[in-house]
Amino acid sequence: MNLREKCPIIHFGDLGDERGKLVVIEGGQAIPFEIKRVFYIYDSDATVVRGQHANRQSEFVLINVAGSSKVRISDGEEEIVVELNRPMTGVYIPRMIWKDMYDFSEDSILLVLASTHYDGAEYIRSYEEYLKEVKGK
Ligand code: TYD
Repeated sequence: MNLREKCPIIHFGDLGDERGKLVVIEGGQAIPFEIKRVFYIYDSDATVVRGQHANRQSEFVLINVAGSSKVRISDGEEEIVVELNRPMTGVYIPRMIWKDMYDFSEDSILLVLASTHYDGAEYIRSYEEYLKEVKGK
């Protein structure tokens, strides 16, 4: 499976009408995991690089519900860049994928849905260590 297949773009349904748009994301339905945690990143800007880690256990879906950002995704072999700029579109990131988020617009609100509760010990924050672990698999 190539990296685009591992990390598909997901288009959410729009239940909007003349009153405005409505996007619903149900765990295990629109996305392939039950949601245990939600966090969002805002007030970053074009000079900032976030992420720079891989997760041994967590799966994520990233959605720019306002503004835009980019996520650079790598599995240690391939690298792709996904631009997130629509509240109805997200990218799925499975376990053991390295990611950097950057190029945040001033109005960027990056919503992250996660399959786990936070556990700092499941983060790999060294790219060297990541390559060692991912290639050992
Ligand atoms: P960090 O992982 O560096 O954020 P990002 O991936 O967006 O660059 O997290 C910043 C701080 O917040 C760090 O001290 C860990 C803490 N944190 C939590 O306590 N819970 C969470 O769910 C997340 C994502 C971070």
